[in-house]
Amino acid sequence: MAVNNCPSDIQKKILILSYSFSGQTSGLLRQIQGALIKEGHLVAKERITPCQPLKFPTSSVVSCLKMMVTTFLRLRVPIQDLSVTCHQQFDLILLAGPTWSYNPSGPVLSLLDRDGAALFKGQIVLPVISCRGYWRLHSYGLNRILKRCGATIPNTIVFSHPHKEPWRTIGVFLKISGMAPERWPFLSRYYSHFGHSKEQQEEAARFGVLIGQTLKQGQSLSAINFATSVAIC
Ligand SMILES: Cc1cc2nc3c(=O)[nH]c(=O)nc-3n(C[C@H](O)[C@H](O)[C@H](O)COP(=O)(O)O)c2cc1C
Repeated sequence: MAVNNCPSDIQKKILILSYSFSGQTSGLLRQIQGALIKEGHLVAKERITPCQPLKFPTSSVVSCLKMMVTTFLRLRVPIQDLSVTCHQQFDLILLAGPTWSYNPSGPVLSLLDRDGAALFKGQIVLPVISCRGYWRLHSYGLNRILKRCGATIPNTIVFSHPHKEPWRTIGVFLKISGMAPERWPFLSRYYSHFGHSKEQQEEAARFGVLIGQTLKQGQSLSAINFATSVAIC
């Protein structure tokens, strides 16, 4: 847990609980975490770790297709136990991860099944979603499960990939299959990089500052507008 010099009456205890398959959620969280620490809060970070490591990229188009099908069926990915730190009372928990076939990812689904009630009952939870562009069903389903676990959800952060369709879908699929579409002469005109942009990383840092300041003022996170045109493209 990072320590800093914020007066203890306004300093909040925050847990960032996350899974990231291809590094996009982690990149956004680094920005949010950095801003929260700068704002003077105590931040604990815990990764949700599959028992069998999942390899990014997958080894082929076939294994990518297989992953798409199993995730569509909401197949759970067994995960390791969390550290005891996670079972404390926090002022805020950020639960972060990617969208997989319109659902939360397999590791997050496992976490919700196994530890959801114990972790989230009576806690304020802010979901953070990284996706290519199709997050609504994921967000709706996740919020329902969290509420059933006894959590309060004041708001949601969503970041979608900034490229236009169909290029971002093609790009994500090829990237997960182990190719580099951003280097292909034709495709690179429409798909310059995989995942979130630098502007979105900066937006994540700005969101971190807003969260940090709002918590210090003792106000609800529900008043923050996270649905900006930079975050959701
Ligand atoms: C198996 C799989 C299924 C996916 N399904 C969706 C989807 O339904 N909707 C969407 O917007 N993005 C989907 N994506 C894209 C990811 O949500 C997106 O690339 C995200 O930024 C990855 O975050 P991460 O690097 O933290 O894992 C999928 C990715 C994978 C690997």
